[in-house]
Amino acid sequence: MSTAGVDVVQRVQTLRDEIRRHEHAYYVLDAPTIPDAEYDRLFAELQTLEQTHPELASAESPTQRVGGAPMPELAAVRHGVPMLSIRTETDTTAAGVVNFDTRVRNALGLKPEDPPVAYQGELKFDGLAISLRYEHGVLVRAATRGDGETGEDVTHNVRAIRQIPLVLEGRAPALIEVRGEIYMRRDDFEALNARARATDEQVFVNPRNAAAGAVRQLDPRVSARRPLSFFAYGLGEQAGFELPETHSGLLDQFARFGLPVCEHRVLALGPEGLIAFHDRISALRGTLPYDIDGVVYKVDRIDLQRQLGFVTREPRWAVAHKYPAQEEITRLVDIDVQVGRTGALTPVARLEPVFVGGVTVTNATLHNQDEIDRKDVRIGDWVIVRRAGDVIPEVVAPVLARREGDPPRFDLLAKFPLCPVCGSHVVRGEDEAVARCTGGLFCPAQRKQALLHFAGRRAMDIEGLGDKVVDQLVDAGIVKSPVDLYRLGVLALASLERMGERSAHNLLAAIEKSRRATLARVIFALGIRNVGEATARDLARHFGSLDALVAADLESLQQVPDVGPVVAKCVAEFFAEPHNCEVIDQLRACGVHWEEGPPGFVQQGVASGKTFVLTGTLPTLSRDEAKALVEGAGGKVSGSVSKKTDFVVAGADAGSKLEKALSLGVRVIAEHELLALIQTGALPTSNQGDSQA
Ligand code: IVH
Repeated sequence: MSTAGVDVVQRVQTLRDEIRRHEHAYYVLDAPTIPDAEYDRLFAELQTLEQTHPELASAESPTQRVGGAPMPELAAVRHGVPMLSIRTETDTTAAGVVNFDTRVRNALGLKPEDPPVAYQGELKFDGLAISLRYEHGVLVRAATRGDGETGEDVTHNVRAIRQIPLVLEGRAPALIEVRGEIYMRRDDFEALNARARATDEQVFVNPRNAAAGAVRQLDPRVSARRPLSFFAYGLGEQAGFELPETHSGLLDQFARFGLPVCEHRVLALGPEGLIAFHDRISALRGTLPYDIDGVVYKVDRIDLQRQLGFVTREPRWAVAHKYPAQEEITRLVDIDVQVGRTGALTPVARLEPVFVGGVTVTNATLHNQDEIDRKDVRIGDWVIVRRAGDVIPEVVAPVLARREGDPPRFDLLAKFPLCPVCGSHVVRGEDEAVARCTGGLFCPAQRKQALLHFAGRRAMDIEGLGDKVVDQLVDAGIVKSPVDLYRLGVLALASLERMGERSAHNLLAAIEKSRRATLARVIFALGIRNVGEATARDLARHFGSLDALVAADLESLQQVPDVGPVVAKCVAEFFAEPHNCEVIDQLRACGVHWEEGPPGFVQQGVASGKTFVLTGTLPTLSRDEAKALVEGAGGKVSGSVSKKTDFVVAGADAGSKLEKALSLGVRVIAEHELLALIQTGALPTSNQGDSQA
């Protein structure tokens, strides 16, 4: 054995210091600084150096202590039966499983001709190991693993986990310690972080840290707000327990006690079944609602487990097969943006390629500017990248210890003042987390969404222009803006998949019909952010013409009822984009027309000046649809019947309103009459001047 040179001594010292810092951050601060895989590598390097240079051994080395120091505030609990760890088989191919089986058979003195050993295959949950002590069926204490010998008393928090029974079902033994994993489901984790972001509380890097933080919280009320789950997988101390003969039998018994046991487990004879299990779970991993970092194989017969015993602190009868890590470190090369269907700009991290979660990742989401600020991620940083399940990879945090100098903070609006897709201005509302492109109708990234909105029933009402047709029209490059709809011919349409000549003609007729519009519909169809149907109508009524609206400044916009500073700003920004005004000009040039007039002008519809009351369930229209129809035709919908009511539209189970209408002599019509009225303008006689009274 060689004597260590200066560089080895230094490396060992550096590794020890670094590992200690990471451990402190991880265990005490609940704020890890590096991914587990990286920590494992540092730890392994230190172990190897210490093994090859025994003269450097030190009782204070992190390798001499497994796990973290208990938090001083939580009471220490000594484990009667130590909580061990499982050896990890590094060879994750089939050979790894065969090696494990060979070791087991040799240790048991089995000959090749002896029957295969039965194993239980389980998931390796990525959470926090816990020991639950039940005395006479009652949960009396819950303790973390700690260093395996001594853990922390976390009973106060664990009692709040609904999945963990406070009392066991059936006939319970005098004493049983159930061991298992507390974890957080991914959806619960996302929801927790979303809430934390909204309220500016601590955001967690992954479900395991969130779970560990929750369990070790001193305040059980805080912990109770963090949704935790549990799976049982092992046994600690027991007394008066009729021990099953097999591990799988033990898990069955746990389930009968009312404890959660994971459904994904198999009983396999020999290594082949375990290999199949490994492959099956590997394919399933992304779809599981929680994180796992591998699978675990255990000798099923408990008498054989006893016979096999332990080496150092690991049982000979169990082994873990890990899957590729879901978090890795890499370099953040640049930050780009992606423009979504609604115009939202999402910052995207461009990364040095890194293998994480089973794939090579080069891009990861950074969510939005606030997240970048909160995490303090800067271009050039080393960052932790996480890809769990089928979730989009994300940058979890920078590795601050590795930052060189003080690179500038990232400012999305400064880097992308204009939309990278269409060149329109990018804006961010005061209370908004997202920055958006103002290109609307003009921006290709927003094209499909904008077209669907434009053609919608409450907008230009182009029947037959649904997502499938829009997808095809845009993908084929036939339609770029709504203007192109008015230039379509039968041939272009009939060339689309599943579009017969007849449907093409129908669609063209619907487009033709939509040329005759109302100002309110056109304003709504433009898809201005925060301008819904009602606001569009108010704007139309107030300004009377589109030119007046385009010319309006913030102040005059806010004069419109219900238009505040936010909506006014959206309207002004929309018309400040020359592209958007061009679209309007082109629509006009294509023959789209609507009536205009001075401020206060409202286009006369067939129902103008008439008041309607809706009651009962109409055969085909919903309340909203009927209301929109009436209002679209210039009529008013009122909630109560009076002498001034012109029509009551009555459906099934109409009640007091119908009675009142009849008693006042108000004209009552059915849905089909309403439709006829609006489509043909043929107004049935109303009560005015009617002699029904
Ligand atoms: S059995 C004697 N089974 O892995 C064996 N452990 O490295 C004791 N773990 O601290 C553990 N899933 O937190 C076992 N199905 C499973 C497991 C599992 C996750 C964790 C546990 C333990 C660590 C062992």
